[in-house]
Amino acid sequence: MMMKIGVLPTDSFIEPNGKNVKEVKILIDAVINLVVDYASNSGDHPPLSPECKTKLFNEFSSDGIPTEELLLQLETIVKHSMNPLTPRYMGHMDSIPTLISCLSEFVTTTLNNNMLSLEMSPVFSKMEVQVLQQLTQMFGLGGNAGGVITSGGSLANLQALAVARNSILQVKENGLTSLTKQPVILVSEASHTSLHKAAMLLGLGTSSVIPVKSNPNSQMDTTDLETKITTLIQEGKQPFAVVATAGTTVTGSIDPLLPISEITAKYGMWFHVDAAYGGALVFSKKHKTLLSGIEKADSITFNPQKWMYVAKTCAMVLFKNHHLLETDFRISAPYMNETDFTNLGEISVQGTRHADILKLYLSLQHIGLKGYEDLINRGFTLVEEFTREVKKRSYLELSGESDTNICCFRLRLNEYDQKHQDQLNLKLQQYLLKGQHVFLSLPTYRGKRWLRAVLLNPFISPSTIQQIFKQIDDFYSEHCMEHPLLK
Ligand SMILES: Cc1ncc(COP(=O)(O)O)c(C=O)c1O
Repeated sequence: MMMKIGVLPTDSFIEPNGKNVKEVKILIDAVINLVVDYASNSGDHPPLSPECKTKLFNEFSSDGIPTEELLLQLETIVKHSMNPLTPRYMGHMDSIPTLISCLSEFVTTTLNNNMLSLEMSPVFSKMEVQVLQQLTQMFGLGGNAGGVITSGGSLANLQALAVARNSILQVKENGLTSLTKQPVILVSEASHTSLHKAAMLLGLGTSSVIPVKSNPNSQMDTTDLETKITTLIQEGKQPFAVVATAGTTVTGSIDPLLPISEITAKYGMWFHVDAAYGGALVFSKKHKTLLSGIEKADSITFNPQKWMYVAKTCAMVLFKNHHLLETDFRISAPYMNETDFTNLGEISVQGTRHADILKLYLSLQHIGLKGYEDLINRGFTLVEEFTREVKKRSYLELSGESDTNICCFRLRLNEYDQKHQDQLNLKLQQYLLKGQHVFLSLPTYRGKRWLRAVLLNPFISPSTIQQIFKQIDDFYSEHCMEHPLLK
């Protein structure tokens, strides 16, 4: 007999005595069917949410709602969510997740372990340490390396810079007030905004983030880096860290990691590589040389939730010297069982934490290294094809040569002023969205609006690319040819 607890629905929990297993499976089947039906037709749904004509959310229910109604609500929610599953979603670094990573989420949430401590996640804590150690070896960080999983790349960058600050400036205990010189960090002008957030949270202030010029391909200019470091020193400041990016957010560019590492070594600075996006290249024998120099990093941010197709969130921060987490970050929690194993909650920003490691581990097991290599290499094939089409058209301009699978381009019509050109690019973005359900994002970069295609989805076909460019040609004929100089 099922156990009826008060007024609760009979499928509120999976009963520990197996008494409601039938009801549980009915609800699970219904939800899974709904999601799988949607996801297996995601190519027919628009990439961005269609406008919702009805009310999306209801007030809290006093008596709980029947399952049928719950499922109807869920269906509306699913249908109106962003759809990064379709190959026509190319706007951002949001990938289609591996099926096993979606299923892993059900396992981890049902087991509801806690990454805070070994006793609360005996398998997942050890799995995290081991998997991350293996990854540090792939990045070439050496035998003392290790890291922790974080909920996204922003937290990974924050923790890397916290350890850098504490280790180089020795401020873990006494804070910044003990310093006589203003500590500053150098980053490329194309780096991610999470670095500013980190500086703000670390008490350094956003003005401590010094932008370094980048070349036409958005890679850090190392001459400017060294000039800025020496100038800052002369001004009485303390440059203590350089952040290089492997896979910039807008153009997917990779900074010259090896020359940057030589500069940081020369000035005794911390070398962090934000490889949130490009870190996945270690899985491609063909392309991993693009990351040459990453092995010199003191710390690395890597987001498998991007180019490794693992469901969000799944990111990590890795350290060459894992021991620094003990000396320059750890806050011990005496309420936890003491063992030789450092509880992950003591060396992470987060305390209680979801077991994101399982979906990464199972994706690697299921897809395999060769499978990942195929996925990464496919992105390069697609970007080459996409870029070739851009180059064929004199009225299109590339932001630069791509290092990864991102193509950033725009309509360039010299007869129009800059504002008008930006408006036309916005119009083209909307035209592709409405006409073909193709979503390209529209970043502002170097003061101009660009169209950005992130060629992540392995189901993007050559014919989809051909259709996009046919539509771009149509737009050009319809909207740009009316200019007197273009007739
Ligand atoms: C290069 C880079 N670093 C860091 C981040 C921040 O990652 P998250 O959004 O997971 O916090 C991003 C996000 O796109 C990124 O592109």
